[in-house]
Amino acid sequence: MYSRKVMEHFASPHNVGEIPDADGVGKVGNPVCGDVMFVYIKVKDGRLEDVRFKTFGCVSAIATSSMVTDLAKGKTLAEAERITRDDVADALEGLPPIKMHCSNLAADALHAAIEDYKKKRKGSAG
Ligand code: FES
Repeated sequence: MYSRKVMEHFASPHNVGEIPDADGVGKVGNPVCGDVMFVYIKVKDGRLEDVRFKTFGCVSAIATSSMVTDLAKGKTLAEAERITRDDVADALEGLPPIKMHCSNLAADALHAAIEDYKKKRKGSAG
């Protein structure tokens, strides 16, 4: 049912954990299944220097979190904002149709972390 890539990322997820002094944190939950995902970002010179995640969820939620952090690392904020759920699913060689909502969670959490970063920066700039 799952692609080889999904199983790889599920078995050994990349970029797991928190960034204690993160510049932005995104949290999204799926009300249907109850899964929750946190994405932490560290920004330097307009690029995502580090991206990490903590996910309490299904196989797809963990694999898509892992993949979205891989895709986003090193990208500019604008590039990372353009990462869609389809990009995540494609990079994982596809997800079962019933699991597509899980990839939405990963892209949303990344975008929420970027939003949080922008909000905080605006706040500190006065
Ligand atoms: Fe909840 Fe996959 S079943 S995110």
